[in-house]
Amino acid sequence: MKRPERTFNIYDAKQCYIRHGDGVGIYSNVSNPMFAKYSPSYVLTNENIRWISGLTSGICDNVLTVAASGDQPMFYALRGAKHIDTFDVSFCAKVAMDIKSTALHKLSRPDYITLLNDMHNCTYDTGLAQILPSVPDASRQFVQNMPKCAIFSQGIEPIYYQENIPTESEYDGMRKKISQPFNFIWTDIESLHTHLTREYDVINLSNIFEYLRSAQMHDILLNLRPYVRPNGYIIAQAGRMGIQKQDKVYQYLASRFQNWAKIMRVDQDRKNPNSESVVVLQRTR
Ligand SMILES: C[S@@+](CC[C@H](N)C(=O)[O-])C[C@H]1O[C@@H](n2cnc3c(N)ncnc32)[C@H](O)[C@@H]1O
Repeated sequence: MKRPERTFNIYDAKQCYIRHGDGVGIYSNVSNPMFAKYSPSYVLTNENIRWISGLTSGICDNVLTVAASGDQPMFYALRGAKHIDTFDVSFCAKVAMDIKSTALHKLSRPDYITLLNDMHNCTYDTGLAQILPSVPDASRQFVQNMPKCAIFSQGIEPIYYQENIPTESEYDGMRKKISQPFNFIWTDIESLHTHLTREYDVINLSNIFEYLRSAQMHDILLNLRPYVRPNGYIIAQAGRMGIQKQDKVYQYLASRFQNWAKIMRVDQDRKNPNSESVVVLQRTR
């Protein structure tokens, strides 16, 4: 049974909001206790979003993507997306995304990299102090009310995913293409469809499915069908381990959905077990 959901006033945020994957936070979804309404965000993606976003480069005007660390929407912007909506169960993901998309315009790339490390390690007095006045209101106040608090400490040190940091030319491209904060939908993936009003070329669900049960995956994809355009794509799952874990479920879903969708696995490099893989659903009808 789900516990009653509580949403605090983010303009009066307190350190006690932040809960780390203990399943007993203020919002406990039994299906997915690791992530909650204020669970700490990542500061850098651990997915190869450079490659994943490149798969639909030029055919992704309208994108809906997980917010996560902010890298997913930032890379889709680089690929030419004109309208990007983001969603996440955690408000901290919006805060990370707002800070990073502001920092692009204020900091050099080396200072941006320092900022990512500082955010992860709760050292907010360096680059963040400089850009905070320009960060959108709700995110700025959220940070200001929680000095030294682990808002962005999910996952391991960004240094282990350095290859996912935008290159000099990608950083430059993002600067040119991102001028507004990204739209944010604060929701669990199971209710995501109830917030949507338009069709997307691409919906990227990142690697949330690896934490869910098959019936949930089934219902979520079915509910998203009206919001992906015919021939458009849902990136259902990124990451080899997560895909392996749900392999049988994807086979089952492929047969259940065959009258309206194709489900396929795409490998970046079949010969390299460390390269990225995704499961993609293409709406055929
Ligand atoms: C699953 S995590 C993994 C990190 C990811 N691989 C990346 O590259 O950043 C991605 C994001 O999904 C969010 N998330 C996890 N479960 C969710 C759910 N049930 N509904 C909505 N968002 C969820 C987390 O808060 C997190 O920001």
